[in-house]
Amino acid sequence: MHIRRKKWARPELAACPFFDAEGESRRGRWREGFADPGKPLHLEMGCGKGVSTAKMAAANPEINYVAVDISEDVLGDARRNIVRACGENPGNIRLLSADICFIGKCFSREDGAERIIISFCNPWSERPKHEKRRLTHPRQLIQYREMLREGGEIWFKTDDDTLYEDSLAYFALCGFEPVTLIRDLAGSGFAPNYISEHEEKYMALGVPIKFGIFRMTEKAPDFDPTRFRLTPGVKKRVLEEISGTMNRKGEKQDV
Ligand SMILES: C[S@@+](CC[C@H](N)C(=O)[O-])C[C@H]1O[C@@H](n2cnc3c(N)ncnc32)[C@H](O)[C@@H]1O
Repeated sequence: MHIRRKKWARPELAACPFFDAEGESRRGRWREGFADPGKPLHLEMGCGKGVSTAKMAAANPEINYVAVDISEDVLGDARRNIVRACGENPGNIRLLSADICFIGKCFSREDGAERIIISFCNPWSERPKHEKRRLTHPRQLIQYREMLREGGEIWFKTDDDTLYEDSLAYFALCGFEPVTLIRDLAGSGFAPNYISEHEEKYMALGVPIKFGIFRMTEKAPDFDPTRFRLTPGVKKRVLEEISGTMNRKGEKQDV
């Protein structure tokens, strides 16, 4: 995705009271950075322009959010969207500039997030060797396991069928059980759903949005996630196992 450079983004972020240009110094202490550290902590990976982030933070003052992106150009837009929805200094959201591939450097078990949100991450579906760049790849999931609290959840949305099905396998192999699986989020009536910039775009094109909630279990992966490649055989086996818990539409709603 090409991101246009915005001259105003960095100066505005530098003056923003809820922006962090690096996350390592807050590792294990994120809750302390909020007006009320006792609230549940939700982390958004790849928030982009923060269209849904701003709606979420405004609608849920009882939840603390950290929204992460690698691009300060899009974080500049996210800041503006959040200020419009929540005011100049909202007490329940922080923006972090960081590379999610190394997110374990910024968050730890002490942060104990209740939820991680991943919406419309790049599918990297064209070349198998790029699979490991996906934000749902086992090498990411093993890091998320370290920053979620017991029973914590990952909420994942995508327009991409291959990414969705591969991710179902990644989650299962890394000890995340699906509690909700929906193949057409807009048509399902599921709530709450905060529609993101990319979601709006794909909905306008009539593309069904695939969605899942995956709850962390104690079963950690018994392989090296950093070197993992999903083979067709493993994908088929895992999807067959999961399909036993789905209805005929390939969906599941346990919550
Ligand atoms: C396709 S956009 C989706 C944005 C938003 N979640 C939405 O649904 O509209 C993906 C976002 O993830 C960010 N991103 C991709 N890889 C990343 C990484 N390794 N670390 C941090 N952010 C990343 C990109 O900068 C981009 O803003």
